[in-house]
Amino acid sequence: MSTDSHAADLAATAEDVFRAQFGASPEGAWAAPGRVNLIGEHTDYNDGFVMPFALPYYTVAAAAKAESWELFSSSGDGQTVRFATLDGARGWAAYAAGVAWAMNEAGYAVGPARIALHSDVPTGASLSSSAALEGAVLLALAGLYGHDIPVEEAAVICQRAENDYVGMPCGILDQSASLMCEEGRAMFMDCRDLSREQVPFNVEDHGLVMLVIDTNAPHRLVDSEYAARRADCERAAELLGVRSLRDAPADAHLDDERLNRRLRHVLSENRRVLRTVEILKGGSVAGIGELLTASHASLRGDYEVSSPELDSAVDAALGAGALGARMTGGGFGGSAIALVEAAAAPKVEAAVKEAAKAAGLPVPRVFTARAAAGAHRVR
Ligand code: GLA
Repeated sequence: MSTDSHAADLAATAEDVFRAQFGASPEGAWAAPGRVNLIGEHTDYNDGFVMPFALPYYTVAAAAKAESWELFSSSGDGQTVRFATLDGARGWAAYAAGVAWAMNEAGYAVGPARIALHSDVPTGASLSSSAALEGAVLLALAGLYGHDIPVEEAAVICQRAENDYVGMPCGILDQSASLMCEEGRAMFMDCRDLSREQVPFNVEDHGLVMLVIDTNAPHRLVDSEYAARRADCERAAELLGVRSLRDAPADAHLDDERLNRRLRHVLSENRRVLRTVEILKGGSVAGIGELLTASHASLRGDYEVSSPELDSAVDAALGAGALGARMTGGGFGGSAIALVEAAAAPKVEAAVKEAAKAAGLPVPRVFTARAAAGAHRVR
């Protein structure tokens, strides 16, 4: 199914939900996808390199201007969330209210709206369901209130919503991916200035598939450990006298053993992203497998953000012949990816599930990902 027809189907449902909840028609529907990060993990807040692609799963916001805020999510608890002012929204509504707040802060004045959200982005799976929600709401409010926001600024506004309203100190990866990725491409981005290059990424043309393995493991300690990694990186940069770890020399070393491992991950991961870009531009996809696997080893050993579920998935996929495999996203649960020959996909999927069962872990959900279109107005 093409991205367009899939997003259109979701939008039709979102519009139905809107009419059922609010007894009127929306003025439009805007979609933003979840993402997989191919490589470049925990580099974004170090001004480093990332390489996400958009998943063909979207959050759609069907919306209309209104007298006060009324939000409804088809995956919520069935209640419409209503508020007169933008402070104090909780749960999923905080992501939407946060975007409106951050738009106002950035000088893009938006008034209240009715918004019905409908999504098939997996939640709690490190696939950026939050960024999809933020992106869809931002496009909807910009559309309703007549703002043409440069996409880089839009990403920063969504990140600000999450950092300063929701309170999650995330980097710029997820929001940029959801807003800027393009169909059939992986997006190589420099997080220092958000400059980017869309690199062709059609694994099927190479007889390969990209499996996403959602471990079904609850995220654990995500927020506190994430903040702790960021703090380690900031301290390491301070000790080295550089603006951010991206600027550390290749042979930089710190006496503090833990900080040195964090440094080693960021430096080596940035190199792996650059090498991945070279290999893809050289026309090979299979050739990036080893880099994916090396990225996982570094995240597991040096950065310490993996989990037993993610390690089990990666090890089992590699054991069953995957060309490469790694965790994707923040870690501590969520999803892994595995690059496999198309013919080997069933065997790899079976091995991953078997390994989880044998270890007494939740059985993962496995699906095939292709690079889909980024956020856009559907109707
Ligand atoms: C989460 C954050 C991103 C990024 C990744 C790790 O997804 O939201 O900003 O830091 O973790 O690469």
